[in-house]
Amino acid sequence: MTQSLTIRRPDDLHLHFRDGATMRAVVPWSARQFARAIVMPNLAPPVTTSALAAAYCERIRAAVPAGVTFAPLMTAYLTDSTDADDLVAGFADGVLTAAKLYPAGATTNSASGVTDIASIEPVLERMAAIGMPLCVHGEVTSADIDIFDREAVFIDRILAPLVERLPELKVIFEHVTTSQAVDFVKSAGANVAATVTPQHLHINRNAMLVGGIRPHMYCLPVAKRETHRLALRQAATSGSAKFFLGTDSAPHHRNAKESDCGCAGIFNAPYALESYLQVFEDEGALDRFEGFASEHGARFYGLALNAGSVTLEKAPVAVPAEVDGGEAAIVPFHAGETLSWRLVPSPADA
Ligand code: NCD
Ligand code: ZN
Repeated sequence: MTQSLTIRRPDDLHLHFRDGATMRAVVPWSARQFARAIVMPNLAPPVTTSALAAAYCERIRAAVPAGVTFAPLMTAYLTDSTDADDLVAGFADGVLTAAKLYPAGATTNSASGVTDIASIEPVLERMAAIGMPLCVHGEVTSADIDIFDREAVFIDRILAPLVERLPELKVIFEHVTTSQAVDFVKSAGANVAATVTPQHLHINRNAMLVGGIRPHMYCLPVAKRETHRLALRQAATSGSAKFFLGTDSAPHHRNAKESDCGCAGIFNAPYALESYLQVFEDEGALDRFEGFASEHGARFYGLALNAGSVTLEKAPVAVPAEVDGGEAAIVPFHAGETLSWRLVPSPADA
């Protein structure tokens, strides 16, 4: 008999869709797996207001295939001049689910991000007061800090003091990549949690640099040493409610990745559940997959758990070398590999 696993329909708590033709090409991949996703606001120009978020939400909804239920949950991109009233109103109306802190210059389309966290302190105080979650890209950007140390230094310089100053603020430390981040999240209060991507559970920095430079393994925060990958696998599969699924799927066209200044971001959306489930199987934690994928994140955000379910069965899936990305092809995570779990298509996909 084929081994299978049925879980409550999951959510992706950190996702990049882009806009236009690229967005329309990638949305169906996420919608076939997830009921909801926290959508990142780093478009060019960024989604900085509730009105921009509402309009972007409509464009995403229009790209969801007929018969599929999928809800984009929107975030606002914080800048030095964010209007706290607009944020609060957007959260109260349900237009915004969270706000995103990008330190200026940390990653793709973050040039308009926050230059000094002190400049948004009043905004963060309002968010803490109304229970609006803050999603954090946790890397410092100082030229003198080595790129492999930027997450750990961010904890000491920015995140730990922030959590101490505003102990009520709900903080999601996004796409954690280090044992320091795991330790910080574990030791912080219940209002601090983390998302973990599939790539940081599967690869260490060798995947990017050994035998030639592999642009499709490059994302930010950059993959670290093996000890960190092992700490992440332990945290994600431990059953702790502080760690949950957020793919950070970040599509860039093949030509933008395979370039003399290749973009950061791994497009893992096509086979995200299959990729994560492989890790849980290898760690002997299949019984903890539902919590990680479908419960911890929703509970942290204060969202109702999804109705319905998805089923994965033990069967090989060949990941294509590239997929349609709208204007140009995109190389997905695990391109050319065969994964060992397969999402059973729902009737709407048939
Ligand atoms: C993301 C992107 O391309 O938008 N890139 C990435 O490497 N993860 C931005 C981000 O989440 O850092
Ligand atoms: Zn991201």
